[in-house]
Amino acid sequence: MQPYPLVTIFGGSGFLGRHVVKRFTAAGWRVRVLTRDCVAAEFLKVAGYPGQVVIDYADITQPETLQGKCAGSSAVVNLVGVLYSRGQQSFTRVHAEGARVIAQHAAAAGATALVHVSALGVGAADAQYAKSKQAGEDAARGEFPAATTLRPSLIIGPEHGFFQRFARMSLVAPALPLIGGGTTRFQPVLVTDVAEAVFHCATHGETAGKTYELGGPEIYTFRQLMELLRSTTRRGFALVNLPSCVASLMGAVAELLPLPPMITRDQVRLLKTDNVVSDSAEGFAALGITPRPITAELPHYLARYTRQ
Ligand SMILES: NC(=O)c1ccc[n+]([C@@H]2O[C@H](COP(=O)([O-])OP(=O)(O)OC[C@H]3O[C@@H](n4cnc5c(N)ncnc54)[C@H](OP(=O)(O)O)[C@@H]3O)[C@@H](O)[C@H]2O)c1
Repeated sequence: MQPYPLVTIFGGSGFLGRHVVKRFTAAGWRVRVLTRDCVAAEFLKVAGYPGQVVIDYADITQPETLQGKCAGSSAVVNLVGVLYSRGQQSFTRVHAEGARVIAQHAAAAGATALVHVSALGVGAADAQYAKSKQAGEDAARGEFPAATTLRPSLIIGPEHGFFQRFARMSLVAPALPLIGGGTTRFQPVLVTDVAEAVFHCATHGETAGKTYELGGPEIYTFRQLMELLRSTTRRGFALVNLPSCVASLMGAVAELLPLPPMITRDQVRLLKTDNVVSDSAEGFAALGITPRPITAELPHYLARYTRQ
């Protein structure tokens, strides 16, 4: 009897990653999660039967740690990303060089599919985050021409993410900031729909070599997302305009502190470009997936922050 196929997932311990792991285990696949913290990633094992999910060490900024770690994989998935560039975890090392190393190992292991998760707007935004993500797409395709690239907009889920971050702020702050006036447009997408797209691309050869832009069914401005947070949590915070130049100054200070910065200058630059699916792009429809509106799940995701 043939064993179930094996997928190796880089970034499987992250916000999107845990949903991708669940999607593969539900379909019977064996899953190898590569992480820098094997102890913290132990929780992923409950996503499958004993032995179905294996946790192993790899740091993509240390290429030697990937040796043999993709062996036997039918598919490899790259979900590694950082929101700010610092030290060894620089945008270039993680998004660009890391993507190349993963693709090299996927090819050497003879994997049939490589699903590379990038981000929407990589070609348009004048931010280092976006430029490094574009370089990562190019590097992955250079090493593994059949790689499928997914570019999601803002991903919404039950774990700490965009809404939870601002919801936590609203518990202590009387007002939340509308960076750059809150006019940037997003097409937020549920994390389970993105995980479904990853699984689909790993298992359908016709997606090889293609790029898909993933957005939910509704477009919202940053202000509308904050208003949605306010109405969903029934909290009475005010919304105040925070000009981009002031946000940049705050970012410059935050970047000097040892803590993860709440905002960086690069993120302010990123917010100057809309984050919506382009008219010419292929997306969920081409994958046969109908994305659900974020409002279908948001009240559950924000329940702990909601005023009773
Ligand atoms: N969240 C969003 O709204 C959003 C939107 C568009 C695109 N994306 C993209 O989607 C992907 C997943 O995002 P996410 O929100 O799930 O990110 P996340 O929660 O921050 O997870 C990032 C993952 O990257 C891994 N990682 C970081 N540095 C690593 C390194 N040097 N070596 C190996 N693994 C490393 C982390 O694993 P360990 O810490 O366990 O090592 C973690 O599992 C990323 O490519 C991101 O850019 C996300």
